Amino acid sequence: MNSIANSTPAWVQALDKYVASKPIEELAKELGLKPDEIIMLVSNENPYGMSTKVKERIANAALNLNRYPDADSCYLQKELSKFYGLPQDWFVVTSGSSELLGLTAQTVLSEGKNAIIPQYSFSLYPMVSKLCGAETREVPATGDYNADLQGILERIDENTRLIFLTNPNNPTGTYLSEAEIIDFLEKVPPYVVVLFDEAYVEFLEKEFQPNSLEIVKRFPNVVIARTFSKAYGLAGCRVGYGIAQPELLELINRVRHPFNVNDLSQLAAIAALNDREFLEMTLQENRKGIEQLKLAFDEMGLPYMGLHSNFITVKVGDGTKVVNELLKKGIIVRKMVSYDLPEWVRVTVGTKEQNERFIEELKKVLG
Ligand SMILES: Cc1ncc(COP(=O)(O)O)c(C=O)c1O
Repeated sequence: MNSIANSTPAWVQALDKYVASKPIEELAKELGLKPDEIIMLVSNENPYGMSTKVKERIANAALNLNRYPDADSCYLQKELSKFYGLPQDWFVVTSGSSELLGLTAQTVLSEGKNAIIPQYSFSLYPMVSKLCGAETREVPATGDYNADLQGILERIDENTRLIFLTNPNNPTGTYLSEAEIIDFLEKVPPYVVVLFDEAYVEFLEKEFQPNSLEIVKRFPNVVIARTFSKAYGLAGCRVGYGIAQPELLELINRVRHPFNVNDLSQLAAIAALNDREFLEMTLQENRKGIEQLKLAFDEMGLPYMGLHSNFITVKVGDGTKVVNELLKKGIIVRKMVSYDLPEWVRVTVGTKEQNERFIEELKKVLG
């Protein structure tokens, strides 16, 4: 085993495995609680579950899984095409948007090339880039925890192939305006792919949402990554998609495994995309939850950042201690030590009752 470990590429040896939170049942066992006593406010999932229309759509299909799925998810591509008013070959469907991050990196990165990643970004960006043997360049954030676009431009060289930008950003909740994005893209060399990760874009207030479709139509080096995991409530299905010009997607599709998205996930995504009522309910309730948490943090005198998503990152002092104390009560929130923000914790907006429980327990922990 040792000799295998030593003979893997240096970048594999240097990587740490992604650490995700445990399943609710396991956590409950460890904490001596019942699964329904656990409140998961840790992975920015939808606390309202799944659209009823999605459940109905996949219930029957679940009994017929003997065939391989549609290799290109073409029915879902068609729905996306209808939804966005762009041709079908502008869409690629992936196993969560995470897969698209990796596919894009594999398409453009290799040893000797580099990817630029803003400070306080999703931890998968350096991971998928390093897995290609590429160098990663972290650019310090602006004073208000946002991506420093000027700083990113200054780090581009002839070996840069990929830039990751998240809008709105996880974990800071900050966002980039359309004017800033266009000004930035006009200065990025055409050989650099810019991946806009819009995993949380549905939660961003409409007036702040950039016109991503116009951006992707204008810039052939842009990939927009979106997901059904967050606002659409399908994190367990692992289904997301990319929007880009066909020339770039054709390359990404060479790297993608066929049959990468299973039948049920494709069907679930089609039903979710067409259930606008569920999405609107989620967005409305999320906004109320943001207000509820903001009010509580204001009362407690706790600073917080970004209110434009389905989570808030709040400064509590010793973040690890707070996370561990809340854990004992069955409330799971994310510590921010790995982001170099040890005084902060990130809480996903839950239902009204879940938020209430979290606030009540947080008050006790902070005394
Ligand atoms: C910024 C960001 N991008 C992408 C993802 C991946 O989402 P998924 O693979 O479920 O689509 C996440 C998940 O937490 C995220 O926070």
